[in-house]
Amino acid sequence: MTSHLLSAGDLSAEHALTILDSAEQMYAIQSRPIKKLPTLRGRTVVNLFFEDSTRTRSSFEIAGKWLSADVINISAKGSSVSKGESLRDTALTVAAMGVDALVVRHASSGAVQRITEWVDCHVINAGDGTHEHPTQALLDAFALRRRIGDLTGKHVVIVGDLTHSRVARSNVLLLNTLGARVTLVAPPTLMPAAVHTWECATSWDLDEVLSGKAAGDVDAVMTLRVQRERMSGGYFPTEREYAISYGLSPRRLSMLSEDAPVLHPGPMNRGLEISSAAADGPRSLVLDQVKAGVAVRMSVLYHLLAGAQPAPVLEEAAGL
Ligand code: NCD
Repeated sequence: MTSHLLSAGDLSAEHALTILDSAEQMYAIQSRPIKKLPTLRGRTVVNLFFEDSTRTRSSFEIAGKWLSADVINISAKGSSVSKGESLRDTALTVAAMGVDALVVRHASSGAVQRITEWVDCHVINAGDGTHEHPTQALLDAFALRRRIGDLTGKHVVIVGDLTHSRVARSNVLLLNTLGARVTLVAPPTLMPAAVHTWECATSWDLDEVLSGKAAGDVDAVMTLRVQRERMSGGYFPTEREYAISYGLSPRRLSMLSEDAPVLHPGPMNRGLEISSAAADGPRSLVLDQVKAGVAVRMSVLYHLLAGAQPAPVLEEAAGL
């Protein structure tokens, strides 16, 4: 693994499977009464978040703490960023304190990559603009594997606001690396302009995709949030129309084969892109994804920060 995690596309199948397999060991720790492991004792991880977050920031924090790293959170609100400090100065200032890893979320695509040019610690992309969110794709793959097994040859449908989604791009990259096939579904206005360069099929018609050419054609459906905060104009006529055409409704759930799960990275707009029947029903992996997030981020931190250490560290971490 490189010394940063910026893009899901940087991961070979071997790297991705190594992270996912170690995450299985970390996952087992989550159900132990005492979750603290000494693996990253003495290491410092800083969560540098220039954009809002609930799941990603807290799961990176928990992941670091369970591995005994010292974890500090800095958010744009409440830091000198709101006094006009530049991204470079903020990154250099934080790195100068001797941190081992920076976990960065930023509203601009490419900002996290830029930080790697200025600092000499490990950098993890926790979401940059509409570009990438590699640990989300890893945790989605982890939750999916646990539910439907090996992803080789599986067909995953991703539907929603793809234009503004960093989750979609990272998932298309990783799912392909893991041997799955992806179909993206969105109205033309929410389909990324360069989608023809992505390795996937596309459609504007969710019903047609879900009804599939052969029964059981769709192995999982991931629905993505309508990102109102990134929208400047009218991408669709009304929310009601979007929900009717692209929402994961009870009717659409019944079109899926019995064991096909439903994913959503959160936060969800219930009643818009996802119905409560889908979000809370037995097919839902929404909370499994959150749980997977801690294990996968423990694994990513472990491989970046302790990867050079001998295998017994992982065995100790896994309680073997
Ligand atoms: C996603 C994000 O921030 O990119 N959420 C997350 O990390 N769980 C998706 C979103 O905001 O819709």
